[in-house]
Amino acid sequence: MADTAPAADAAPAPFGLLAELTHRCPLHCPYCSNPLELVARAAELGTDQWCEVFAQARALGVVQIHLSGGEPLARPDLPELAAHARGLGAYVNLVTSGVGLTRERALLLAERGVDHVQLSLQDADAADGDRVAGARVHAAKLAAAEAVTAAGLPLTVNVVLHRANIDRTERIVDLAVSLGADRIELANTQFYGWGLRNRAALLPTRAQLESSRDAVARARARYGAAPDGGPEIVHVVADHYADRPKPCMDGWARRQLTVTPAGDVLPCPAASVIRTLPVENVLRRPLAEIWYASASFNAFRGTEWMSGPCRSCPQRHEDFGGCRCQAFQLTGDAARTDPVCGLSPDRPLVDAALAEAGPELRPNYAMRVLT
Ligand code: SF4
Ligand code: FES
Repeated sequence: MADTAPAADAAPAPFGLLAELTHRCPLHCPYCSNPLELVARAAELGTDQWCEVFAQARALGVVQIHLSGGEPLARPDLPELAAHARGLGAYVNLVTSGVGLTRERALLLAERGVDHVQLSLQDADAADGDRVAGARVHAAKLAAAEAVTAAGLPLTVNVVLHRANIDRTERIVDLAVSLGADRIELANTQFYGWGLRNRAALLPTRAQLESSRDAVARARARYGAAPDGGPEIVHVVADHYADRPKPCMDGWARRQLTVTPAGDVLPCPAASVIRTLPVENVLRRPLAEIWYASASFNAFRGTEWMSGPCRSCPQRHEDFGGCRCQAFQLTGDAARTDPVCGLSPDRPLVDAALAEAGPELRPNYAMRVLT
């Protein structure tokens, strides 16, 4: 693929930067969406290199910087990185498992510039949560939530829903509310990277999905919804059961870019699964040039790249043909219509996955191995 400079109005400036500071992580979740091959500690960008990435991102128009991983707390320079991002005028979001987030650390990070914390929880119960995390971390997560609110930081609790925890949706919301969450994100598992290996064990049944939807509606009714006092509850349902795909990433390379621990620059966090995509790296090319002029960022912008049935579909400006990573993982061609779409000739692939998952609960996961 040759590089092509986009028309000035074809690519708006990015809004957010997902900075994957490290792939190191104390958890082993079977739904991990990080790639099969993780970046080793020795290959991670250093402090100065990350500071330069943040400066380039701000110059490009990025407003929000998400400090993520793996577990970003594994980086001793996290306070320095947060301070630098804030000093550049960015809104700084820490995305964390909470393991290692003591009161002192939360206070320090708040002082240095973290504006908001997004904390993952695995389940409402310690034993179930620890089982899926592959580590005894549930209690530490509850303590981390307390540390975040004690530091005066707004808290989002993020929970991946799957077959083994989705029946406890309402109790999960109750726990998040009791922890003082301002926002609760309940996202059904998406199947990228490592998570695809465990798809059959993680996919909920249709009946579970429906009952989880009812549970969310009950919780919203009980707690009230933002802005009238209650927490905002965001519920992302499993797209495999839908007849039309999600507008993944709000369109390819439209709003956010990801920088991996080694400096690779991706149009979406899972894009390394698309092995046919050229890989850009911020150590070799400026971020602005990658955003506006690289082949990988321009590959699926807009609608010109589409073929049938998307090309003539009235829905194409709303869902952008669905998810490029899912199309590649299921068909080997990232330019095909997302197989979730009922109009896609590849929809039988998704139906076969649903049939394979079957009705039983069988949490015999391949736990995330950290290499
Ligand atoms: Fe969306 Fe393409 Fe399906 Fe139309 S055919 S609904 S644009 S994925
Ligand atoms: Fe990459 Fe959907 S996850 S485009």
